[in-house]
Formats: sequence, C-alpha cells, structure tokens
Amino acid sequence: MGLFVTFEGPEGSGKTTQIRLLGEWLRARGYDVLVTREPGGTAIGDRIRDILLDPAHTEMYPEAEVFLFSAARAQLVREVIRPHLARGGLVLCDRYADSTLAYQGYGRGLDLKRLEAITEFATGGLRPDVIIYLDLPVEEGLARRQRARGGEWNRLDAEQLVFHRRVREGYLQMAAAEPHRWLVLDARQPIDSLQQAIRKRLAERLQLPA
Ligand code: TYD
Repeated sequence: MGLFVTFEGPEGSGKTTQIRLLGEWLRARGYDVLVTREPGGTAIGDRIRDILLDPAHTEMYPEAEVFLFSAARAQLVREVIRPHLARGGLVLCDRYADSTLAYQGYGRGLDLKRLEAITEFATGGLRPDVIIYLDLPVEEGLARRQRARGGEWNRLDAEQLVFHRRVREGYLQMAAAEPHRWLVLDARQPIDSLQQAIRKRLAERLQLPA
C-alpha cells in the first residue's frame, strides 16, 4: 500500500511550495507521486470548488458548505486517491478532511462529532498517514495571502479575524491529540528549513536516508 500525506494550514502558509518541493524530492527517489488538492482535484470537484469559493455566495449556510466540501472529497477519494494508493503510489494532498473539522467545526461552530460522521461517510474511512500542519499567526497568513493575490479574496479568506483564529486553535488541538500522525511546523521558517523538516518525517516513514 502507498502513503497518504496531507497538508493543512491557514491562508498563506506556503503549502503549495512545500508540496511541490517534496514531490520533486520523492520522484527523484523513484516514488510514484500524485499531487492533488481540495476542494477540487476532479472535474466534478472543480465545479464544486467554484461554487464554494465564489465571493458572491455570501448566503451559503454552513451546513450546505459542509456537504459541498464533502461531496468534492467523496469524488476525489474514489476517483483519484484510492486508486493511486492501491497501485502503491504516494499521494500528497493540499487540504483534506481536517480542513472541514478546522473551518466548519472550530471556525463555524458546527458539531464536531457530526462532522466526523459525515467525513467518515464521504471518505469511506480513508485517513491520512501523515498530516503536515504549517502553522502561522493568523494576521501574518492573511497578509501573505493579500500580497500574493493582490487583494483578491475568496469567500473563506474574507471571513473575520476571529474566525481564522478559531480555525488555527482547532488545528493545534487536533495536532496535540494525535501527535504521531501530525507534524506541526512553524511556517515562518525559511522555505528550505521547512522542507528539510518535512523530508525528515517522510524519510522516517519511508525508511529512506533524509
Ligand atoms: P484555497 O484557495 O484552496 O486556499 P488555500 O490556499 O488556503 O488552501 O481555498 C480553499 C478554502 O476552503 C480555504 O479557505 C479553506 C477552505 N476549506 C474549508 O473551509 N473546508 C474544507 O473542508 C476545505 C477542504 C477547505
């Protein structure tokens, strides 16, 4: 069986760069690496993504949001992630189920137990082997995002600071509850040292020289 690695973190934490660098490193070592992201990663998921992130959809209820994220995830797991893992490949996914717990659970205040049940149904119980969480103070993440996107905010970026603070607290609580699965890194480190720390954890899992 392959290895399923997910990346979590607030807005602007640099997940995309780290995933790209890790993918290159693993491919150079002969692994069959698939990089994907949520919401999206499939034709159906990309359509759902547009609905979810459209800043015009201010009237979306949190419950509807949960099912849309979960629908995109259900499709991605079956169409892309599971088949790749079954072939012995490695999957690097930019956000996964823990984003739902962090944003819709801790952020929006929906019941965590219920979200866990919905997520279990959506994923068929597939959980990541390793979760890399790039942690960043909320103000800094939003400032980075603004610089990168020239002030173009998606519907979730545009939430209030207190929302993003609850999301971060949620991530830290989940990571503390399952330290063997989570790797928490300070995203303010230089790109290289972050990447080294990620490779070290993966090298341990894959029994590779770092
Ligand atoms: P995206 O532009 O992909 O942002 P990022 O670069 O931060 O990953 O937007 C995805 C947004 O959706 C992001 O704000 C997090 C949010 N999200 C949820 O609220 N719940 C979820 O289950 C997922 C997967 C993402």
